[in-house]
Parts: sequence; C-alpha cells; structure tokens
Amino acid sequence: TYAQQTIEKTTNKTSISTKVLNEILEKNRALYKDGKVADYIPELGKMNAKAIAFSVVDENGKIINVGDVSQKFTIQSISKIISLMIAVNEKGEKNIFDKIGYFGTDKPFNYFANLDNSGKPLNPMMNAGAILTTSLIDGEGEIPFQKILEMVRFITKNPSIDYNKSVYNSEKDTGNRNRGMFYVMKNTGLIDGDEEKLNNYFKQCSIEITAEDLAKIGYFFAHHCTRFDGDKTYQNPELAKLIQAQMMVAGMYEFSGEYARTVGLPSKSGVGGGISVSVPGKIGIGTFSPSLDSHGNSLAGYHMILDLVNRYKLGLF
Ligand code: DON
Repeated sequence: TYAQQTIEKTTNKTSISTKVLNEILEKNRALYKDGKVADYIPELGKMNAKAIAFSVVDENGKIINVGDVSQKFTIQSISKIISLMIAVNEKGEKNIFDKIGYFGTDKPFNYFANLDNSGKPLNPMMNAGAILTTSLIDGEGEIPFQKILEMVRFITKNPSIDYNKSVYNSEKDTGNRNRGMFYVMKNTGLIDGDEEKLNNYFKQCSIEITAEDLAKIGYFFAHHCTRFDGDKTYQNPELAKLIQAQMMVAGMYEFSGEYARTVGLPSKSGVGGGISVSVPGKIGIGTFSPSLDSHGNSLAGYHMILDLVNRYKLGLF
C-alpha cells in the first residue's frame, strides 16, 4: 500500500479502483444486521435488507460500480437537493430562503420545527422545508414533479428513470405527518395551493434510481452543476455552493454534525437506503444499503463512505 499511496500522490488525481471499492464493500457487507429497513412507509419495508451497492464517478467522469449495481431503490430525501435546485433556479435564492431557514438541526427529518408558532421550516433538507420547496416550483398539477423527474434523468443521462407507483401510493396513504406539516404551512400562508402540491413531494420521493445514479448526482454538484460527461447546460457555481452547503449542515439530519466530523463532505441520505456524496471539484459517490441507523441514514452506506474517504483522504478537513 505504500507504493500505491506514492502513485496516488504523484498523479494528483485520485485513482480509485474496482478492487478497492470491492474490498470496502465486503468489509461492510454484514453491517445491515445492525440496522433496520424503513417500514413506516409499508412498501419500503419490502426491500431486501442484504442488497448493497457502491458506485463512484471519478475525476475523469469514469463510472466504477461494485455490488448490486442494477438494484433499483427509491431516491426519497435525496430528491430534496434536486427540488431545491429547480426552485432556486426559477424563483431566486432570496425568494426561497425568505420562507425557509439555512439552519442545521438536532432533530429528526420529520420534525415540525417552529411551524406551529407561525415560524419557517429549519432548512430545505428536512421534510417541512422540502415540502415547501416543491410547492414553490412553478406549474399546475404534476408539472413540478415532472420537472424534478426530468432533472434527475438529465443529471444521470438515464431517460428510463421513473417513479415507483406502489411506493408513491404507500407514501400518500401513510403520510399523515407530512400532510399535517403541509396544512400547517398552508394555514400560516407559506404554502399556496391544494394537496396536489404535497402529492408532488410524495412522487419525487418515489423516483427509482441506482447507486450509480446517486454517484452521478454527487458528481454534478461537486462540479458546479456540470454533468459527468461534461455537459454544462445547468452549470452554476453559486447554486452548487448553496446545495452543497445545505447537504453539509443538514443532509444527514441530526447526524450531520458527527458526519461532518468523521466524513467531512456534503452528502444527502434517503430512507430508501441511498446516500449521494459530493467531493467538491473531484468525485461523486453513491451508496445503497437499505438497512438504516436510528437517524434514517444507511448504516453500511455511511461506513463504506467513511472507509473510502479515509483511504484516499477525500474529506475537506
Ligand atoms: O417524507 C418522507 O417520509 C419520505 N418520503 C422521505 C424521508 C426521507 O427520506 C428521510 N431520510 N432519511
């Protein structure tokens, strides 16, 4: 490994191999036993707890995949960075953040925050702020959701991506806490419109992707919103800075502080078992393992990221 480290240093670019990714995956494979697959959305509870995948888009835009790479799962809260991107592009940062804070959190993702005192959601990464963000995207009916779906397809260059209708229906049937937040924000005037706006949030959470798609999303924000193949249609350094800052302070919810201490990279998790990581100016990482810790973050995913970051010194600090 000394020789390997020397090579890594002399080339300046981080050369990540399939072999290393496989080693890290195997080391963490059994961790699913220590967590729990999300079942508060009944349809999510059907996922195979043992599935695991690890993907990297390297500095040259090259994709490296190991594990159950074709396994699809729902994007869940990782969609919140995409909806934030679209809302800010349409309305401008000020108009969005007049209604939502830039705060971190010591509370879980479904925390009501100060909503009941006519306050603003803490940030766009937790459910309340994300529901509000999606409601601010222009368009009637399903159009805001379609914009989110199209953006995920664009970033991943994967036009076959769609949403999982069973998961969507399951979210909608059981999402009364989210519905409660929606109506409290309607009551205080933060949200304008009917429940179709909330359904767009449920639909965006139900978009099905793979670990590779998450690595491409991570790469996109790590590179000023440039796609892994170099397409600069949405290039916007300021927007990438905003999204990554939000991922850093709240992307892993109440675990974000400890995560910043150990991994030190902007990351976003979802209860479907995915994590998308941006190594600014460098690579994108996507992980999948549906067994979650008590904060709703993928357990094996976190440990695979931690091992990769330690091995290649990818953390910012
Ligand atoms: O709002 C919900 O409950 C889900 N559709 C998304 C939550 C989520 O992914 C939280 N993440 N860890």
